[in-house]
Amino acid sequence: MEKLIINGQKKLCGEVSISGAKNAAVAILPAAIMADDICFIDNLPCIEDVTSLFNTLTKMGAKCEFLDKHTLKIDSRNIENVSATYEEVRKIRASYYLLGALLGRFKKAEVAMPGGCNFGSRPIDLHLKGFRALGAEVFVDDNVVKVYAEKLHGASIYMDQVSVGATINIMLAACLAEGNTVIENAAKEPHVVDTANFLNIMGAKIKGAGTDVIRITGVPKLHGAEYTIIPDQIEAGTYMIAAAITGGDVVVKNIIPKHMDCLSAKLEEMNVTIEEGDDSIRVISDRALKNVNVKTMSYPGFPTDLQPQMAALLTVCMGENIITENVWDNRYQYIDQLKKMGADISIEGRVARINGVPELVGTDVCATDLRAGAAMIIAGLAARGTTEIKNVKYIDRGYEDVENKFGNLGADIKRVK
Ligand code: UD1
Repeated sequence: MEKLIINGQKKLCGEVSISGAKNAAVAILPAAIMADDICFIDNLPCIEDVTSLFNTLTKMGAKCEFLDKHTLKIDSRNIENVSATYEEVRKIRASYYLLGALLGRFKKAEVAMPGGCNFGSRPIDLHLKGFRALGAEVFVDDNVVKVYAEKLHGASIYMDQVSVGATINIMLAACLAEGNTVIENAAKEPHVVDTANFLNIMGAKIKGAGTDVIRITGVPKLHGAEYTIIPDQIEAGTYMIAAAITGGDVVVKNIIPKHMDCLSAKLEEMNVTIEEGDDSIRVISDRALKNVNVKTMSYPGFPTDLQPQMAALLTVCMGENIITENVWDNRYQYIDQLKKMGADISIEGRVARINGVPELVGTDVCATDLRAGAAMIIAGLAARGTTEIKNVKYIDRGYEDVENKFGNLGADIKRVK
């Protein structure tokens, strides 16, 4: 069991380069096996979720080879096994994309119900509804989702809830269905667009990704492609928030500033100065932070995946701050950890009321999930004294080289066994 140990109250200064987007990578790797061909994926983040998928795809018969730390060659010409067991997929939620990808190419798949972070009920009914609409038979047997189709046909699918996973999964399968598919009320997240762009380079015909209506004309097959994954919006946001809480001056590089609009606007509202470059944002935090309200929503709203990090920041904004979590029904499990550090927070359903305190105090805390772990780092960076964070394995699922990136900005942070 590894721990992160942080001696807090050091201002973060300097530059940090952002890795490729985790949530794009975990969709694009399954998409790559939809071609009976070779794909090269660049700017892959070096994180545990990618390692898990690498292992799963390899077990299916894909030949996966890292050409360097961030570039993967995937040869999918000899895939024979269209199933993934619970043992393989238990760590990563996004294993559900294997269903859409395999259903599209092989017209069958058997994948154990996905694992990943636990923030309440995480159904995949919309994914399955979409597969059925495309002509597949779907069973859930002993916690394994089984999908089969003689052939897939296009369909008009209205999503009664905006879902990133269902949008991407249906898009994957529909690329290789006969005829036209329309997905209405689709998710608009940057990684939906990135996956669509990759599929289009592979020969798919997808229009409208990034809007709430996606139109797909099925093609008989996809071919190999080379692709560079977009920068990680959530990693970038984590470093921006860390700069803000430490009174720092940090340039967050290699990002798409447009993806950060919602966070940038919120930080400006809090008295943080934001300077936007072409592919970077400088965050300068040299004034007292002002209290705010935050409501999480699907893109382009405030991302739920930055909610825990934002909560950590708001613990030291004097006055009352209110967070409303609109996406997940139980994403406040980490709050007790912040309270151990002296935060004043009360929860009522989806609403967290945070009364700012002058400072947090370091103590032993636990990463209860991936982004909660990032929130613990942010709180530890601001706290007086030493914070020890257990369960670092969650953080490693989604953050590349976390202690070195923070260390290079001047944080006193180390990893110990
Ligand atoms: C993705 C992200 C996750 C992020 C979430 C919301 C990946 C790998 N993960 O998760 O980090 O927190 O988007 O931005 O990209 N829902 C249903 N039925 C379904 C599917 C979803 O009711 O079939 C509900 C969920 O319970 C949730 C909401 O829809 O309340 C949004 O979930 P969704 O966008 O699907 O999240 P994920 O794709 O799992």
